[in-house]
Amino acid sequence: MTKRSIRSADVAGKTVFVRVDFNVPIADGVITDDTRIRAALPTISWLIERNARVVLASHLGRPGGKANDELRMAPVAARLAELLERPVTAMASITGSDVTDAVDAMNDGDVILLENLRFDPGEEANDPDFARELADLADIYVNDAFGTSHRAHASTEGIANHIPAYLGFLMQREVEALSRLLEAPEHPFIAIIGGAKVSDKIGILDHLIERVDTLLIGGGMANTFLHAQGHEVGTSLMEEDQVDTARRILEHATERGVEVMLPLDVVVAEDVDAGRGTTVSISEVPAGSAIFDIGSETRRAFFRAILEAKTVFWNGPLGVAEKPTFAVGTRRVAEAVAMADGYTVIGGGDSIAALEQIGLADQIDHVSTGGGASLEFVEGRTLPGIAMVPDEADAS
Ligand code: 3PG
Repeated sequence: MTKRSIRSADVAGKTVFVRVDFNVPIADGVITDDTRIRAALPTISWLIERNARVVLASHLGRPGGKANDELRMAPVAARLAELLERPVTAMASITGSDVTDAVDAMNDGDVILLENLRFDPGEEANDPDFARELADLADIYVNDAFGTSHRAHASTEGIANHIPAYLGFLMQREVEALSRLLEAPEHPFIAIIGGAKVSDKIGILDHLIERVDTLLIGGGMANTFLHAQGHEVGTSLMEEDQVDTARRILEHATERGVEVMLPLDVVVAEDVDAGRGTTVSISEVPAGSAIFDIGSETRRAFFRAILEAKTVFWNGPLGVAEKPTFAVGTRRVAEAVAMADGYTVIGGGDSIAALEQIGLADQIDHVSTGGGASLEFVEGRTLPGIAMVPDEADAS
């Protein structure tokens, strides 16, 4: 069922509260990646063109319910103003008379950005009074914060109990693109799952085994699988308490006829700051070394498998990708996903960063703005930020 789209809303002269995900990386006050801000522009521009009064709100980081000067929204408002080529008023608070006065004084087409929602403990607690205060600012609510749609917070869920709710264009794009992985994906369907921990990805692995033909596993989590298969992994990151889970996932894959490709060789070093690593077979990891990347034979095997796929989903780095010495595997996988003719989707900051580094992000069919949210969506879970928007058929 299609969710009610902003397109069907009458917004002229109305105040529209738009929940965006402007949780962007900021170093020394400078935004280092504005992808999420740019991704929200279609909704914001559409509202401006239709003479709505646009009240934007987002969280930034995890301030834990209190104000934190390093996590203020002002730099985000400045960047948004540059991108929109029009003023964006940055509020120093979320609720209260400063905000209500500013909203009351808005003209059609004006844009304001509220202060970081997570400065108020009511946001993450989904406090009904806080949700009501947010709703009282506007006539209409639009959720365009896909990256936060797996959180049931006041601005992503509670607010929709009070004013009519719609999905923004970014949300719609995400839902459509990710749904293709759930509904009749073309085969062979390959998933590449990396990252540090099996415990973070059990749900997605179990779910993917029901759908994919081949599962490629890399990153720190592969070590736990390798250990479950009887390999020694030296001093590598390994979750002893997840070894049984890894074994069960491998058995589940065998029952379903899913091929699981684990590293055949790996790059090891004594520590992650070593300037260089040594490639060894998976059966020869030295006791005093740790695995930090997939090796050349594995890179070739993964590369070939990805190129043959008709559908590819990738989440998580294959090694310690933030260190150039151990980024080769992640980069090679990024190249393969970019070159694949099949339908390609990636989610998660590290995978996206790898693609951007090699300048190939535009070769991907869908780059999700959500990390955790895209995983939960592909797991088939109900995301509260989407569920609370009525279906199109229910729209009055
Ligand atoms: C993200 O960056 O994944 C989203 O903005 C959600 O942030 P959170 O994990 O702090 O809820």
